[in-house]
Amino acid sequence: MSKQFLRNFVIGAATAAYQVEGATREDGRLPSIWDVFSHTPGKTFEGHTGDRACDQYHLFRDDIRLMKDLGLSSYRFSVSWSRIFPTGKGAFNQKGMDYYRRLVDELLAHDIRPLVTLYHWDLPQALEEQGGWLNRDTLSYFASYAETVVRQFEGAATRFITINEPSVAAYEGYLTGQHAPGHSDLTETLHVAHHFMAAHAYAAEAIRALAMPVEIGVALNLSPVYPASPSELDIAKGYDRISNQFFLDAACKGKYSPEILSLYGEIMDLSFIRDEDLLVMSKQSLDFLGVNYYFPTIVQEGMHPLLPDVLPPSEPLTDMGWTIDPQGLRELLVRIHQDYPQIPIYITENGAAFADEVVSNQVNDPKRIAFIEGHLQACMDAMEQGVDVRGYYVWSLLDNFEWAYGYSKRFGLVYVDYESMRRIPKASAYWLRDWMMAHTPKE
Ligand code: NOJ
Repeated sequence: MSKQFLRNFVIGAATAAYQVEGATREDGRLPSIWDVFSHTPGKTFEGHTGDRACDQYHLFRDDIRLMKDLGLSSYRFSVSWSRIFPTGKGAFNQKGMDYYRRLVDELLAHDIRPLVTLYHWDLPQALEEQGGWLNRDTLSYFASYAETVVRQFEGAATRFITINEPSVAAYEGYLTGQHAPGHSDLTETLHVAHHFMAAHAYAAEAIRALAMPVEIGVALNLSPVYPASPSELDIAKGYDRISNQFFLDAACKGKYSPEILSLYGEIMDLSFIRDEDLLVMSKQSLDFLGVNYYFPTIVQEGMHPLLPDVLPPSEPLTDMGWTIDPQGLRELLVRIHQDYPQIPIYITENGAAFADEVVSNQVNDPKRIAFIEGHLQACMDAMEQGVDVRGYYVWSLLDNFEWAYGYSKRFGLVYVDYESMRRIPKASAYWLRDWMMAHTPKE
């Protein structure tokens, strides 16, 4: 298997607009919820913002050359809705679109396949002021924005992710308040979680109506849930239902399970789940499922069935304090394959932050090498078990703006010096290049 591994397998790197682009006031772009949130005192580490980020808006050609040198065959990036429709709707901003056309054309010129995320958490602020993701109108604005981008990319990009990590955007944005827009309300959280899954379906419907040869997927953050003790298996199953299955069922089966609906129905009014949404969801099919995997979750009995206790992570840990567990990825992939057969899978994010340092112009990151190697092996093992895994994207190409953590966490294959904007590929980037060469079958 391992020699044949890369014959049809894509290895790439991922980023997202607000985390790398900078140029937040250029070419007609207006603020998104993350501009407002990061500029609100106390919301991010030392008040960091994405104003400049990695300046990829100006340096994308250099970054693409770097990707080429590193042997990557695909780049996952996101489009900033606020560049295309600065107020979320209405008049289309040609200059914003031109940037992404240049980016995609440059990728194609280097034989690097684009994987385009349409929503990576940066809702136009003007829509937030009208209720944001709690307002049903946002769903149709999202569908129009998605359809516009796909149409504009005709003949260039063909693989699209509608929404990135709907569960993190809902829970961190509307329950913990650690992400934009910074609310703390459980009913809002579930309301928005449903709106994300419905928005995915409405966008997919609008894109399919274009009858273009494109593939549509969604990227879910999934964490296998294990019980702290064998007697707590049901607790783990319950937590899996709300953290994983809710989103998987909506994306892959176009519905929510009756168990989940009755669980939530006991604690809140679910009238925000409209029949028309369920109808559109039921008609959509996915071309692929994007899996973002970072760590497993271990739970034990807590105060409420909806809130079991999540155990503190155990060693070894990344700099985010996340448990390193490649086996968790293999088990997750096998489980998805069993519960949702037939759907091709891309690992749309996997990676680790470590406290990298530059020494004599080099960055030695052996822990990241071991991390990536272990998780690539987990993909190969899952494929041996019959799972249809088609690709793997490292999070991230570059060190970048890690949301509430600002620039304090470094996930990149490539180190970024935020003063000079100099890029220094880390040892892991060279290791991955060599690993890919060693695993590419000779024709
Ligand atoms: C998930 C998100 O999609 C991405 O934006 C984030 O930087 C990484 N995980 C790491 O936390």
